[in-house]
Order: sequence, then structure tokens, then C-alpha cells
Amino acid sequence: MLLSPDKKRTQFCGEITEDKYLDQAIVVNGWVNHYRDHGDLVFIDLRDRSGIIQLVFDPTDNAKAHELSKTLRREDVIGAKGILRKRGEGLENPRIPTGKYELVCTELFVFNRSKTPPFDVTTGEKINEEARLKYRYIDIRSPFMYDNLLKRSEITNSIRSSMQEGGFLEVETPILTKSTPEGARDFLVPSRVHKGSYFALPQSPQIFKQLLMIGGIERYYQIARCFRDEDLRADRQPEFTQLDVETSFMTAEDIQTLIENMLSKMMKTVYNREIKTPFLRMTYKDAMDKYGVDRPDMRFAMEVVDVSDIVKSCEFSVFTNVTAKGGMVKCLPVPNGDKLSRKDLDELIAFVGNYGAKGMAWMRVKEGVLESNIVKYFSPEIQAELIKKTEAQNGHALLFIADPKDSIVYDAIGNLRLEVGEKFALRPKDKFAFLWVVDFPLFERDTENNRWNSVHHPFTSPHVDDIDKLMTDTGSVRANAYDVICNGTELGGGSIRIATSDMQSKIFELLNISPEEAEEKFGFLLEALANGAPPHGGIALGLDRLVMMFQQLDSIRDVIAFPKTQKATCMLMDAPSAVDNQQLLDLSIKNIEVQVNR
Ligand code: AMO
Repeated sequence: MLLSPDKKRTQFCGEITEDKYLDQAIVVNGWVNHYRDHGDLVFIDLRDRSGIIQLVFDPTDNAKAHELSKTLRREDVIGAKGILRKRGEGLENPRIPTGKYELVCTELFVFNRSKTPPFDVTTGEKINEEARLKYRYIDIRSPFMYDNLLKRSEITNSIRSSMQEGGFLEVETPILTKSTPEGARDFLVPSRVHKGSYFALPQSPQIFKQLLMIGGIERYYQIARCFRDEDLRADRQPEFTQLDVETSFMTAEDIQTLIENMLSKMMKTVYNREIKTPFLRMTYKDAMDKYGVDRPDMRFAMEVVDVSDIVKSCEFSVFTNVTAKGGMVKCLPVPNGDKLSRKDLDELIAFVGNYGAKGMAWMRVKEGVLESNIVKYFSPEIQAELIKKTEAQNGHALLFIADPKDSIVYDAIGNLRLEVGEKFALRPKDKFAFLWVVDFPLFERDTENNRWNSVHHPFTSPHVDDIDKLMTDTGSVRANAYDVICNGTELGGGSIRIATSDMQSKIFELLNISPEEAEEKFGFLLEALANGAPPHGGIALGLDRLVMMFQQLDSIRDVIAFPKTQKATCMLMDAPSAVDNQQLLDLSIKNIEVQVNR
């Protein structure tokens, strides 16, 4: 059972792809992927992380080893020693890189037996995810998961090398800390020593990295674990990793260039692909106007057009009711839209309903004129204007969303564009379209509570040209913030920070945080800003998201060794779980049943 030196591998299975190993004595170690007992001969496909090699046990070579090989089952852990030979004519397996060879074994060492595995490792990604997560250690043996974790490791390596080359210091920041306002709910950790007090797990190292700048570090990075108790989606986890960066005396453009260069080097070293730099830059306003979202998917063109002014005088009451209330009517011109069948259009109408739109009007352009059951409500002049403004050609479909609420129009038309892109296969996973979205608004209005909220976080600096509008026209103030987007996903976001105590206090005030609350929550930061804070700014990129995208996957869980489920549980360890009463007593915590009145 024990691994003695003579049983240790001389080669990884997947390495045996060249004639230079022929007729050599080779030892391999790994797991039984597959077995075939032909009576006289036993064939074992042996798997390690590098690949698979075929082993042959023949009683004439070693009767004892042959006998033992008959007992092998899937996932048994073994070592084998043998001489490499070419497979016979017609017996080669072109589907695996080692398929020309087989190891004729004279010795077999069984290190450990395995229970019958719950699923076949080599079909890993296709089986149900619950089983994969419960038996994650078996799932990780699959080539699919191994490749994801390997690439993740190479990506992290490339990040570290770029950052170190750029003079950045990797500094760790605390996990037990105080709440950082990134917009999600905190995970709390009760203190045993200070009863009734709680640590919060960091939603990001935001404040610490700013303090490091005040501490004169100038260039910081960290592959940092962040914790956010929020609703999960395919690209969100409660515990995730950021490449977190902060710099002093650098402009927003410097930081963007730094990230572009890092991403471009990463693509080259890990995937041997070029990405074009500098990335496109687009203002938030343009992104919303043309694509309906602040993170446009630029793999395909298809721009949204505002037609409110044109249709306000038509006779289609769905549109005029909206324009009369000051609402917007937006149009998505779809080239080759005549390929959309009635069924497709009905599906799209149902689809936009998910985003609050009450419907979707449509027209088609045929031989220079508009067609549909609503065109009769549009005068020839209005029709001509619509064709002109949307630059519609024969074969185009015009899809319209109208709503008194701007947020519904943006959401519906933005998602409609993506869905149409999907229908026309315009969003291939192997194409990467990067851009920076800049000039976000600093605040957004929370109409329910009648207050302003930060769009990014409260430490984001206002745009230098808008500072005098802070008190008078708060909603129009732009932030000195930037997001890096790839294929319609936000990979990262950052900003130039507020670097003076006065400005930070003013922003807290605008956010309805009283001076007392500001002092209680952020007094240390206000104090630090008043003690020689340099101009500083940074960014954080979601590492899991980035690996998911570059690996061309749909789920963030496939690039995390031990992820949580959509319901924020760990299937493997069965966490979260109940704890001993004594542990609760130590923390002075009592489980209380909360009565919910329905
Ligand atoms: P932000 O909150 O935008 O910025 O986060 C940065 C990036 O982290 C990723 N991300 C997530 N990934 C997986 N699961 C989640 N729950 C999750 N939440 C966020 C996204 C996002 O773009 N402190 C600021 C950065 C800064 O200003 O420097 C911050 O955390 O890819």
C-alpha cells in the first residue's frame, strides 16, 4: 500500500505521446478510469491529471499481476510498471493523445480500493450538479474541472507576474473586520470576547486598500476573498475572489491602461490569443442610449434608437399614451429581422414581459415600406422618418418598447437586444469584446426612501468638472469611475477616490449619513484622510467571473474548487449547519424562533 520509491511514477500518463519512450521501463500512478477483462488479457485505462494511458496485463508476463488486475474496478488507485510498446495495427485510439501506445505491465501495486463511484468521472460536466458538488473530490478528477482549475492557476500566476513587474506589493488585509458598504448584506461573526459585538466579513478590501495608500504603499494588489450575502445568480457567489488593486498618484487612464496590459498579457500567456488594446471607451449615457444597459455586449453592433419624438404624433395610442406622460419609445432595428417568424416574435413579446414591459410592437421593412398590423396608425411621413432614423433596410424588423417608466424601457430593450443576438447566434463564447464604461452618475435616486445612494460606493470621487453641481444638481454629477466589461458582463469596476476629509464628509452628508453616524462608522477613515492622504484610485476585477468567461463557461461554480450552491450551501460539508449549544453559550447567542405574520 505504501508508496515506496520503486512504485513512484517515472512519467505522467498523458506524457507518453512520443516514440522516445518505446521499449523503456515506465512506472505510472493514478486511478482506474476503465477496465476490460478479456480473460487472457486485462486492459486498464489508467488516468492521472495529465491524461490516460492503456495498461495491458498478460499472464505470460506476470501471472500474479494479471490475477490482481482482474480485481481492479473504477477509481481504484494503483501503480503499474511495464514496458512501453506500440499498439497493434487497427488497435490505436485516435481520440486520446497516448492512443498509439500501451504499457505492457509486469508489476501492479494497489494503493487503495474505491467504492463504486457515484458517476463516471470522464463524463463529469454532463451529470447533475448536485451529485458533482456532493462528491466534489471525484468531480475534480474530471479533465473538465482539472482544466478549469489549471487555467485559473495560470491566470492568477500571470496576474501576479504582471503586478510584481509593475512594482505592486501584494498585501493581505483582514477577514475579520468592520462592515464595508458595497451594497450587499454582510456576513457577521459574533465576538466571544466582546459580547454583543460582531465582526463583519469584508465585502471587499476597499477601505483597507485606501488606508494602504495613506500608508504610502503606492501600489497594492491582492488576490482577495470577498463575502457578500446577496441573491445568487450564475455569475455570483456569496464568497468570491477579486483581483484588488489600488494606486497613488495615478490617473483613471493610467489605471485603465494597467488593467488592459495585464489582461492582454494574460490572454497571450494562458490562451495564446491577442486582444486589441486600448479597449473601446464609452460613456454611461451612450451605453444606456445605444444598448439599454451599462455593460453592453459589443460582440455585435445592433444599436437601439430613440423614436419618441417621431412617434409622439402618430395615432397608435400605446405610443402616444407613453409619450404624453413623458415616457420613451425605443426601437431596436434588427437586420435580417424578416427571418423572425410569428412564433419568434411571440416569444420575444413574452420575453420582454419578464422585464416589466407591457408588450413589444413590431414592423417589418419590405420593398422600402413598413408592414405590420399597426402601420396604419402611422402616417407616411412618420413612417418615412422611422425608416430614416433607424436606417432600416429591406429585410429589417423594427421592434419597439414603450413605457412611461424609463427603467423598464432600458431593461426591456437592453435584454431584448441580447435575446435577439442570441437568436441570430451573434454572441459566440469564443469571441471577446472588451470595453470601458466611464462617467457613471455618482448617485442614484432611491425614490422609495427619498434619498440618494452611491452608484459605486461612497468613497468614489465626483468628476472634477461636476463638483460645483454637488449641492445644486446632485443627480447629474458624474463619478470618476470606470467599469471594465467583456461580452456584456461586468468584469470589474473601480474609481478615483475621494482623498480629502472635507469632500468625504460632504458626500456622507449627501447620502443622508449624519455626522454622528459618519463618525461612528467611518471616523477612522475621515481621520486618516486628514493625515496626509495622497490622490489615489484603483479597481477590482472579479477573478471567478473572469476565469469563467475566458474558459467560455456559463457557471461560476465550474471555476471554483468548492463552490456554494444557488441556495448558498456547501453540499460537500453540509454547511451552514447547527452548532453545539456550548458554542452558542460561549458567544451568548440564543436561537430564537422568529414569528412571521403572513
Ligand atoms: P464591485 O462591487 O464592483 O467593486 O466588485 C468588483 C467585481 O467583483 C465581482 N463581483 C462578484 N463576483 C462573484 N460573485 C459576487 N457576488 C460578486 N460581486 C462582485 C464583479 C465586480 O465587477 N471595492 C470595489 C472596487 C473598487 O472600487 O476598487 C468593488 O468591490 O466582477
